[in-house]
Amino acid sequence: MAKEIAAVITLFGGSGDLAQRKLYPALFGLYQRGVLKDHFAVIGTARRPWTDEYYRDIVKTAVAGDSIESTAQASAFASHFYYQSHDVTDAAHYITLKELAAQLDEKYAAGGNRLFYMAMAPNFFATIASHLKSEALLTATGFNRLIIEKPFGHDYASAKALNDSITATFDEKQIYRIDHYLGKEMAQSLLALRFGNPLLRTVWNKDYIQNIQITLAEAVGVEERAGYYETSGALRDMVQNHVMQLLAYLTMDEPAALTADAVHTVKARAFDQLHRYTEAEVATNFVRGQYTTATIDGEAIRGYRDEDGVAQDSMTETFVAGKITTTAPNFAGVPIYVRTGKRLTRKSTQLTVTFKPQANSLFGVTAADTLTIYVEPSQGFSLQLNGQKLGQTNVLAPAELAFRHDPAAAKSAPEAYERLINDVLHGDQTNFNHWNELAQTWRFVDVILAAWAKDKTMPTYAAGTMGPQAAKDLLARDGAEWFWQPTRIQMAD
Ligand SMILES: NC(=O)c1ccc[n+]([C@@H]2O[C@H](COP(=O)([O-])OP(=O)(O)OC[C@H]3O[C@@H](n4cnc5c(N)ncnc54)[C@H](OP(=O)(O)O)[C@@H]3O)[C@@H](O)[C@H]2O)c1
Repeated sequence: MAKEIAAVITLFGGSGDLAQRKLYPALFGLYQRGVLKDHFAVIGTARRPWTDEYYRDIVKTAVAGDSIESTAQASAFASHFYYQSHDVTDAAHYITLKELAAQLDEKYAAGGNRLFYMAMAPNFFATIASHLKSEALLTATGFNRLIIEKPFGHDYASAKALNDSITATFDEKQIYRIDHYLGKEMAQSLLALRFGNPLLRTVWNKDYIQNIQITLAEAVGVEERAGYYETSGALRDMVQNHVMQLLAYLTMDEPAALTADAVHTVKARAFDQLHRYTEAEVATNFVRGQYTTATIDGEAIRGYRDEDGVAQDSMTETFVAGKITTTAPNFAGVPIYVRTGKRLTRKSTQLTVTFKPQANSLFGVTAADTLTIYVEPSQGFSLQLNGQKLGQTNVLAPAELAFRHDPAAAKSAPEAYERLINDVLHGDQTNFNHWNELAQTWRFVDVILAAWAKDKTMPTYAAGTMGPQAAKDLLARDGAEWFWQPTRIQMAD
């Protein structure tokens, strides 16, 4: 059984979508594993006037399983939840919260440990942090930790302002900036794959790698999130955070240890070494696009500009592809191609490392060996090698060594949010964003945003395709192509 951690957890945004879909199930998972047991309480806060009973029903519904046993467990779990109606802009409410936290600390013997989770719109983060300080909600005994959701800023300047405001209350060691991709099984296992295999460790450098590709493809459109998405776009929503974090895991140096400090050091260095484009270079190295209407499987799909809540002349990109290079000695000259978008052919996050084909006197120039890491929906990796064609001596044919986690086993492994909250409870910052990383990635992205702001053209792509033609041309110029080229009829990757 896991070691129990005691804490009073205050959740700002306790009635919200994230809390109900992700956070309550994640906390329940920790309860079922015994990390949260007898000595914890959760205070959910939001403006609506819920009672504790009503709130507990919401929590039970969010975590309910099918069996009688899990229903009983959900009730016992929900009994640790308390609701406090609270407007985060009202100083007096923090005094009430502080008193409730103190009472619950005593009731559950939580040892002064406090976890504050900001699961609200980001414009409130600074307000909450400053009130936690001015109304003295941090304790002198036990730990005080802050979990903060993305988006962390809108550009470098706003991210810095936000960081300044939260570091006025919390120090860096107390801040856990979430990027839920870092909680995903295969993102985390990149370290095991890269550094746990002498075979890969030896060839993971510019001498052997031809290019690296990162694809985060979504099949859905903007759905109900147009209000947010119109102010964000694919570059801010996916590239600055998730794509960049995966890129760092693929290109960073080997950390001196598997500790937060050591991993953050090599990641920050990897971001430092990225070639930061000038605005003039953006046009040749980054492509954006917007999806347009299409008929898929007989269903008419709306174009982005026709979606509810999207401006008819919107210049928000729903697709980004880019070529990134680094000055890191191990990877200098290796192109890293990234792409992400909505309404692409199929949902998949996958990373491909293509190794340099090497001419030899026996077989001439052979097909490139490739390693693909499947992050989602399937989880695993595959190595494509040259084998011999069956029955044909010395004739090469592609052969695949494929591994996938068993879907049922993968389903019962902890979800990203459960892993990440578990890390916070244990004080492990490894899988969270250090401020240095965010500062660097925003600086990288800001130049692209500035260049696009001056460009009045918006390439388009039909919904259901893998982006505008320019995304293909970007690689073709280098004599390369996207490794993953899905069609509608392929099985899930
Ligand atoms: N939903 C997701 O899947 C997801 C994924 C990744 C990141 N995030 C991030 O997580 C955060 C929360 O997202 P969400 O989707 O859960 O948002 P949401 O559903 O809109 O929830 C917002 C919460 O804030 C509360 N609230 C709003 N104004 C308030 C105020 N003045 N004082 C106190 N409470 C207030 C709301 O309750 P009342 O109206 O009752 O006050 C509600 O509980 C955002 O930063 C978002 O970017 C969400």
